[in-house]
Parts: sequence; structure tokens; C-alpha cells
Amino acid sequence: MDRRAIGFMDSGVGGLTVVKEALHQLPNENVIFLGDEARLPYGEKSPKEIKKFALQISRFLVNKGIKTLVIACNTATAHALKLLQHNLDIPVIGVIYPGSLTAVRSSKGRRIGIIATNGTIKSKAYEKTIKSISDDTTLFGLGCPRFIPMVEAGKDKSEEDQKIVNHDLLPIKKDNVDTLIMGCTHYPIMRNLIQNAVGFNVHLVDPGVAVIDDLKKVLKDNDLINSSLNKSKLEFYTTGSVHEFKHVAEEWLNLSIEVKHISISTLEEA
Ligand code: DGL
Repeated sequence: MDRRAIGFMDSGVGGLTVVKEALHQLPNENVIFLGDEARLPYGEKSPKEIKKFALQISRFLVNKGIKTLVIACNTATAHALKLLQHNLDIPVIGVIYPGSLTAVRSSKGRRIGIIATNGTIKSKAYEKTIKSISDDTTLFGLGCPRFIPMVEAGKDKSEEDQKIVNHDLLPIKKDNVDTLIMGCTHYPIMRNLIQNAVGFNVHLVDPGVAVIDDLKKVLKDNDLINSSLNKSKLEFYTTGSVHEFKHVAEEWLNLSIEVKHISISTLEEA
């Protein structure tokens, strides 16, 4: 029995897609989430910068007393998972392996697409992981950086938004994949637009959902499960605008939440 919170980190509201699934599957667990909006988009930053940000955020969360950390960001998982696993004394899990495994299991034609940030695509992290699971699968990658600011601004519903998504996903539509990994945690918030654009015969994989199985296993194996019957305690931090974060987060989580601002200088001191 361990009442300490699970930590989640992302560059923005995207990580809440992982938190939502965690709250659904692990309703007793306490959560501390940090969205680093002030330094978003991570997808356009260098691996060195991402490593630095990930270390700062993870130290902040560890100082808050978390028992395990979920990197609810594909870009940070691609660049910093090993570093954080090496540096922290708590279990650290990322979204890329569980997302890859789910995609390979779902793809009958062995043609999988991955849409992600440019940083994740360039890292080839999904390509390497999928090859290690199935060497007869072909992966088609596409960077979709325009979707992240749309989601942050809550622009994921109108016809105009659908047109942008249709346009940006044209290359992947031509690749004729049967499975598409939403390899950025922001994208599941615009899942309907993505599904409309690629067609309903393409199976969408959300690594943020797949990672919850890994999380449950880590909690069980390390004796970290919170079996208390109290309602989850949730803490949210953003380095950006509290107002904007709260707006998108409350709509997505369907909850009324309190959001605290945390400055970059506080993170740098962590
Ligand atoms: N949500 C993040 C991801 O999964 C990154 C978005 C960004 O800041 O570029 O990669």
C-alpha cells in the first residue's frame, strides 16, 4: 500500500490523454502532472535540450514525493527515457514501447504509420522499437507539428481544423497503412479529426492508453499500489498560462481542477 502520487510529465496538455486513462483504470491513485507549456513545442527542440528539461521536471516531481514517473510525451520518451531511468531512484516508464507493441499486434498487413513531432520522427525511436518487435513490418513516419498548437488552443473541432488535418495527413493516407500510431500525446485530443482524415479502415493506436498496462505492472511488481478507497488527489502544474491550461484540461478531463503556475527558474533550481 503506497499513497504517494504517480508523476506525469509532458510539454503541454497532451500528457493529459495519458492521465485521463490512468484515472479511468487506476481510480485510487493520486496524480501530479506537469505541463511545460512555456517551452513547448518539444518537437522542435534539440535532444540535448529535451534531456535537460526532462531532468529538471523529473527532479521537481520527485521532490514532490512521487513513487513512479510516466513520461507522457513521445518526444521526451525518445530522447530522455534512458537518462531518467538511470538518474532517478523510482521506476520511470515511457510511451514508445507500449505504443509500438500495440501497433504491431493490431497490424495484419504489416504496414504501420506513425505521426508524431519532427523530433520523435527524426529520433527513429519508433522505427527501432518496432523493428525489434517485428522485423517484417514497414513503418511510415510523418511529422505533424501543426497539430500541437491547435490542441493547446482548443482548436480541434471546426471544419477549418478538419481541413488542416486532412491536408497534413495526405502523405500517410497515400502510404496505405492499416494501423496508425498517434505518436504524440496531444493527438488523441483530436482523434476524431485524425480518424476522419485517414478513413475508418485505419486502426488508430494511442500509446498513452497502452502505457497504462505497463504502469499497472510496475505498480504491482514494486508493491506501489494505492488500495485506499479515498478519491484520487490531483495536482496540476503548468509553466505556461494557468487560464489556457485549465480551459483545455477541464474540457478534456471533464473535471473541475485547480492548476498552479510553476516558473522555469523554479524548475531550474529543482
Ligand atoms: N506531447 C508531446 C509528444 O508526445 C510533444 C509536443 C511538443 O511539445 O512538440 O511528443
